[in-house]
Amino acid sequence: MCPEPAGPQHVVLGVAGGIAAYKVGELLRLFTESGYRVRVVPTEAALRFVGETTWAALSGQPVATDVWARAESVPHVRIGQSADLVIVAPATADLLARAAHGLADDLLTATLLTARCPVVFAPAMHTEMWQHPATLANVDLLRRRGAVVLDPDVGRLTSADTGPGRLPEASEIFHACRRVLARGTLPRDLLGRRVVISAGGTREFLDPVRFLGNRSSGRQGYALASTAVARGADVTVVAANVGLADPAGVKVIRVVSAADLRSAMLPAAADAHAVVMAAAVADFRPLQRAASKIKKRDGDPAPISLLRNSDVLAELGAQRISGRVLVGFAAETHDALANGREKLARKGCDLLVVNQVGDGLAFEVAENSATILGADGSQTVVPRGPKAVLADRIWDLVATRLSN
Ligand code: CTP
Repeated sequence: MCPEPAGPQHVVLGVAGGIAAYKVGELLRLFTESGYRVRVVPTEAALRFVGETTWAALSGQPVATDVWARAESVPHVRIGQSADLVIVAPATADLLARAAHGLADDLLTATLLTARCPVVFAPAMHTEMWQHPATLANVDLLRRRGAVVLDPDVGRLTSADTGPGRLPEASEIFHACRRVLARGTLPRDLLGRRVVISAGGTREFLDPVRFLGNRSSGRQGYALASTAVARGADVTVVAANVGLADPAGVKVIRVVSAADLRSAMLPAAADAHAVVMAAAVADFRPLQRAASKIKKRDGDPAPISLLRNSDVLAELGAQRISGRVLVGFAAETHDALANGREKLARKGCDLLVVNQVGDGLAFEVAENSATILGADGSQTVVPRGPKAVLADRIWDLVATRLSN
């Protein structure tokens, strides 16, 4: 007999009263289009920003706001009890405070008290409110109790203000929720660990307008950074020509060439617990960088001679700092595992993430698959999926090595 197919997972989307409520329709669509059944529970203040009709139409479910409506179905208890995940977006300073202190003065906070499933908060508020000691203490309390509180993005807020406090992108919240649904929580196993990640692709300039570069977008390195922050790490990213928004809660050092990257990485890595070289670093640079645009003249020899760059990963590996976990990447077009094993040993890594390149994989795309080779002979296959999922598998292996 075939087993009963599992029904859709039930997500409660709590919406608190902040202007970012208008962005949450996009998050709701990501859930419903992926087959989740979503019950939206806006606070009264949230309904002043986005009305009940919008939530009902987008979710295809009745919208619950009031503990007094349909009292016979005991909504303040049932909604939380039947949820597989509660996500609150935006989580305002007021909502975080009420949740941290166990208030149950409306349907959303009552739902948070009755829910026994994982709970994720996606905060959005003004920088001053986010950085206030009261809010920081509430966030800390919620995290210590097992809730996942995402860090807000840094950027433009209401009016002309900028700073930390923006609601993270809908896709980032959605992927964090999927990871929590898959694991039950997001582990905080990198708390107190300093990690340094290189991301993107270096550029070696020939003259003021031309460079030798590569196709790396920095997406994998940035996914490593945001997942490490979510797991509690103190994260520095050395970003080579990355055009993406900086991940929230991360120190970003911008570089251009392989030499710049080396100058930023070596000191940053000196006291790190884990170093991940996800950047595509040029192996060669032009012998000279012309001060003005190189002109072609018939009969002239090709104008480029190349010099070898230092191999940053191999240099870090040769330092053999005990207790520091060193992770390299390898993009291979053929004999991926054999080449990977050789590279792992040659560069002195603890882990090497081997990507098969080509066929729409690895570069400039949101998904990745890989085999993670360990210096201890281990081999972990990560099937094709979001780059955040591969990032989390890498951190699982790093965290195990750090705790050993
Ligand atoms: N790397 C580095 N410094 C370089 C070149 C590469 O630190 N000058 C790092 C990359 O960040 C990556 C790893 O080395 O983590 C593997 O890079 P890859 O280009 O695959 O390896 P190569 O040593 O260049 O080997 P080959 O080109 O021969 O495959």
